[in-house]
Amino acid sequence: EKQGFRHFMLKEIYEQPSVVRSCLENYLDSSWSIDSIEARSPITLGAAAELCSDVDYIQIVACGTSWNASLVGKHLLEQLAGIPTMVQYASEFRYFPSPMLANTLTIGVTQSGETADTLAALEMEKQRRMGLEFPYNAKILGITNRPESTLTHMVDCIINTHAGVEIGVAATKSFVAQLMGFYFLALELAYRRKTLSLEKIEILIKGLRKLPNQIEIILEKQGEQIQELSHNFCDTQDFIFLGRGINFPIALEGALKLKEISYIHAEGYPAGEMKHGPIALLDAKVPVVAITMPGVAHEKVLSNAQEARARDAHLIGVTSIDNAESRTIFNDLLFVPEIDEILSPIISVIPLQLLAYHIAAKRGLDVDQPRNLAKSVTVE
Ligand code: F6R
Repeated sequence: EKQGFRHFMLKEIYEQPSVVRSCLENYLDSSWSIDSIEARSPITLGAAAELCSDVDYIQIVACGTSWNASLVGKHLLEQLAGIPTMVQYASEFRYFPSPMLANTLTIGVTQSGETADTLAALEMEKQRRMGLEFPYNAKILGITNRPESTLTHMVDCIINTHAGVEIGVAATKSFVAQLMGFYFLALELAYRRKTLSLEKIEILIKGLRKLPNQIEIILEKQGEQIQELSHNFCDTQDFIFLGRGINFPIALEGALKLKEISYIHAEGYPAGEMKHGPIALLDAKVPVVAITMPGVAHEKVLSNAQEARARDAHLIGVTSIDNAESRTIFNDLLFVPEIDEILSPIISVIPLQLLAYHIAAKRGLDVDQPRNLAKSVTVE
């Protein structure tokens, strides 16, 4: 069933264009147009949209990759819909919850819908709000890839991420599908709360529709390049991933993927934090991967990358900008198609997944079943 791929993880990475397509089909109203006479939302989230339309705050609980996706979600909910959003580790929140806020939507994000810490955090939140009246009542939304899971029975409604069954322990297509869920939620809320103009919403939707082809281009163009590149890192012990703004969580995700399947120590940092400590780690033995998509963060990440270069680090850039400056700063460039910064996480994560995969495969490791990890962590 690997359809010619060496591992399920690789197959699942290559399924991402069709996963994004099916998310678009499920959650975009294809007949919507900015000129429609009848005013209606371009997004079709149904009950999930009703649940959150008038909340003042959002708190998200999740673990691992789902937590990384939630950090991207926070950027979207805050920047597009203007809703203050907190992201909590479920394993912490269940024992050390933040004070209850009024009129708050709690979102549990779990690919499997079975992660014990996430379910317990949601249960705790439900219990402590039990019997309280509006505006302190519990409103809980789940984002999951398993609509038949335990999560679904605990929450008021779910957003199904439509990634299909994921077999590789390292989450890839389910992560991208969670991001899509957050784009739809944030755009729906932006539409309802009028925090974005219809013109801006239309531009973002057009951008979302381009994603499947753009991911295909990366997979076609970079598969081999990254496989070649990964030869250089078979004996590497540490990796640093840098990003800023909406791509900081992608730096975390790149580092997590590499740790999980290649057993190489890796950390993701918001690039501006390097000088506050981690820069001391850098030398010629520590490669640095910097995500520098065009936008507010671009120049900043470039100058942080230059600081790393000055410490002899091997620099790998993930960027859509092919110019003399990028070619001089970076030792290797992983090019991705041009895209609005706010949509870029779905694009920038793809080369990082491929990099983690090829390094682990080159090291001859059991990519689909990494040591000490399970697909669903149903124990505390
Ligand atoms: C990452 C990974 C784990 C999971 C985490 C949460 O590749 O597989 O970090 O993301 O255990 O799992 P779910 O999303 O099922 O709650």
